[in-house]
Amino acid sequence: MENEIKLASGAMVALGVATAALVVMPYLQVRDVPAPAKLKPYTETQLRGRQVYVANGCVYCHSQQPRDRGLGPDLQRGWGRASVPGDYVYDKPHLLGSMRTGPDLFNIGARQPSKDWHLGHLYQPRAYVKDSIMPSYPYLFTVKDAAEAEREGERPLALPPGFGPPEGQVVVPRAEALDLVKYLQALDHTYPVLPAPVQP
Ligand code: HEC
Repeated sequence: MENEIKLASGAMVALGVATAALVVMPYLQVRDVPAPAKLKPYTETQLRGRQVYVANGCVYCHSQQPRDRGLGPDLQRGWGRASVPGDYVYDKPHLLGSMRTGPDLFNIGARQPSKDWHLGHLYQPRAYVKDSIMPSYPYLFTVKDAAEAEREGERPLALPPGFGPPEGQVVVPRAEALDLVKYLQALDHTYPVLPAPVQP
């Protein structure tokens, strides 16, 4: 019996220490972090796009956490400065990601601001990056008659030659695709977060 009590209390202590170190302390450290002055809250459209990002599992292949220079060459890759806790104040749930099958997207809006590129790339990544292993998302688009799209005033994708639908048809983005691209374009955390160094 004595051994069981020791085992149980040992387990409780271990659990308590782990919870304090991994849950309570980090929470106390970052709960009052203010938003950087230049970070804008998401708009309604961007939040809807963020939902599309979550629903389609983009986070399984894309991180949103450029690392410090000492931890990896993320800056040289063009992914931007190391992120700081304040960059995430509006992110619920956070989408840090832990896999980098594709590039980090924390600053994709600054790196690739083109709406047309994003729409086309989501429809067919191989049309822009030969041998890309990113899945295509055709269900975020509709293929319709060119005449019908024109009547409805919709703007079809300008896909590279060979990747478009058959003659007389066009690809138009659904609302989900447009929202998602608004979200991707908003991913721009290139503002400075540290005060400029004082010149001697
Ligand atoms: C199976 C893994 C995988 C998934 C899931 C995935 N991607 Fe990708 N993504 C990649 C790879 C690999 C690349 C690099 C090749 C390319 O550009 O197509 C990439 C590239 C990108 C780029 C261009 C990045 C750059 O720096 O040029 C964007 C933007 C992007 N993905 C957005 C998304 C979005 C949005 C989703 C979800 C709808 C998504 N990806 C889902 C693997 C993935």
